[in-house]
Amino acid sequence: MTEPKQLAVQALQWTGDSLKVLDQRLLPETIAYEDYRDALGVAEAIKTMRVRGAPAIGIAAAYGVALSVKQHCHDRSVNWSDKVFADIERLAASRPTAVNLFWALDRMKALLNSQPEDPVAATQALAVEIHQDDIAANHRIGELGADIIGGAKGVLTHCNAGALATGGYGTALGVIRSACRRGLNKVFAGETRPWLQGARLTVWELAQDDIAATLIADSAAAWLMKSGAVDWIVVGADRIAANGDTANKIGTYSLAVLAKQHGVKLMVAAPLSTIDWNLADGGGIEIEQREPNELLPDSYNQESLVSAWNPVFDVTPVELISAIVTERGVVLNPSENGMGSLKL
Ligand code: MRU
Repeated sequence: MTEPKQLAVQALQWTGDSLKVLDQRLLPETIAYEDYRDALGVAEAIKTMRVRGAPAIGIAAAYGVALSVKQHCHDRSVNWSDKVFADIERLAASRPTAVNLFWALDRMKALLNSQPEDPVAATQALAVEIHQDDIAANHRIGELGADIIGGAKGVLTHCNAGALATGGYGTALGVIRSACRRGLNKVFAGETRPWLQGARLTVWELAQDDIAATLIADSAAAWLMKSGAVDWIVVGADRIAANGDTANKIGTYSLAVLAKQHGVKLMVAAPLSTIDWNLADGGGIEIEQREPNELLPDSYNQESLVSAWNPVFDVTPVELISAIVTERGVVLNPSENGMGSLKL
């Protein structure tokens, strides 16, 4: 078994004064970081998907709050915390579905409400802690998930739930990384239309880690399953309701339905920060709708008879999920066993 190497490309780098964000819109052709020094910039980076993936946007937002505190807390002319709370509202409005964003902002708000003596140092320290804890959670998830899929002949993943989408290492890709170190040698990735996270990010990220992956068109998934090449689908999550219903990248639900037909199992790998205990089931999860132009070819811009419906997440009912893997442990068959063992 070889040790995992530190991925050379990281989605987020904290310098102490600024947040460097890898612009994921440009991958894989161009590796370019943008330097953010205020919360407004970080909110814009999340909204425009320079940084994406549920845990990564939560971490970015936490750093955004730290930057806001640094910017405003020496402003004696007003109550500086009003400005910080306004920035928190802007960060919260950047994307609606991934609960990690709101989880991280709630932690930062609770810290501010406790009125720390040195708010700059305290908020920076908490943002760094959220980042480091996520990396540790990813490694634990990777090992626990690999225990379950051990011996799988092939695995299919969807979207990008890798180092690029997290603090580092990844959730679904953390499981795949760990499983590959133990002998898994067939990894498939769906291209993930329309934003192509699978084609542009996942196969590229795995290649940086010397893991060979085979890209498929999303529409080839049924045929791949029919061929018998995969026995597990491993995905991340943007929000898991208290009953285990799971919101993830659009197309995950389709894969879950196909998996049932073909006797393939579905694993959801996510940190506890992705579980929304306030939602009884997936019916309450807000599904982000993005602009039609992410889907429509430019040539249709002036065509009033052509439109696009572009929901970017869907909800997979818990009955279709074989395992939910978190850093606190695993729930097999969550529709039967419930999620209680993951609660504190
Ligand atoms: O729109 P994106 O790219 O932010 O969507 C990302 C996903 O759906 C991921 O699968 C999810 O956030 C888990 S990332 C560990």
